[in-house]
Amino acid sequence: MDDVMVRAVGLHKVFKDKKRGVVHAVNDLSFEAKAGEIFAILGPNGAGKTTTLRMLSTILRPTEGYAVVAGFDVTKEPEKVRFRIGYLPSESGLYHRLTPKELVMFFGRVSGLDSHEVKKRMDELFESLGITEFANTKIEKLSTGMKQKVAVARTIIHNPPVLILDEPTQGLDVVASRVVENFILNAKREGKCVILSTHIMEEAEYLADKILVINKGTKRALGTMADLRKLTGKERLREIFLELISNSGEEQ
Ligand SMILES: Nc1ncnc2c1ncn2[C@@H]1O[C@H](COP(=O)(O)OP(=O)(O)O)[C@@H](O)[C@H]1O
Ligand SMILES: [Mg+2]
Repeated sequence: MDDVMVRAVGLHKVFKDKKRGVVHAVNDLSFEAKAGEIFAILGPNGAGKTTTLRMLSTILRPTEGYAVVAGFDVTKEPEKVRFRIGYLPSESGLYHRLTPKELVMFFGRVSGLDSHEVKKRMDELFESLGITEFANTKIEKLSTGMKQKVAVARTIIHNPPVLILDEPTQGLDVVASRVVENFILNAKREGKCVILSTHIMEEAEYLADKILVINKGTKRALGTMADLRKLTGKERLREIFLELISNSGEEQ
């Protein structure tokens, strides 16, 4: 069996913005990610990371090109894709009046698990993410880091084979980031395919098997850290990244 879990082919997204006119948010992106792999999309603000992940998550329709996620075309069979992915949006609106337990239980039930299954999986997730001690506190009273851990738990309560995480450690301190990062590494060990976006070099370096560098919606490089080092002759991802971005050219 083909273990490619996410395949993007010539993805384009064009927005028509009243003020800015035609915006080419994503230009001809193609890539593949496999089961048991962490694939990072690295780019500066406005590079097209969120737009790309929203297309993979069936929220936005590609203007051109297509994507196949967990065996299904995102445009033709979006509901099949939705059941097989856990999507963490960059601003995850949680229901602040609920407790983590109530929220995650609700999402587990909505995704078709029975209450016994949800409970079992929720307990495991809460333990590994360190949510247990505040599982019964209203979300509105939690810190940013705690909220993000709850958002992660909600995203994967149904145990999907593909995780699509938009800047998963955004706004978190080093300690909370490490909890989320280790969680992501664990998902990889379980054989999940993880696609994440980040603008944090250390995170891409620490987590990713493959890195897709984008700028202004366009691919700048794709490969392992070793590939990117070879390509640029630089050692640290920060230097590699700056080199790749500065070569973008203004003609784009
Ligand atoms: N709904 C939209 N309408 C118009 N322009 C958009 C919309 N969403 C994103 N964009 C533009 O597309 C580009 C890429 O945005 P985005 O994918 O959010 O980048 P990133 O996540 O890498 O910061 C930006 O120029 C952004 O302003
Ligand atoms: Mg974004």
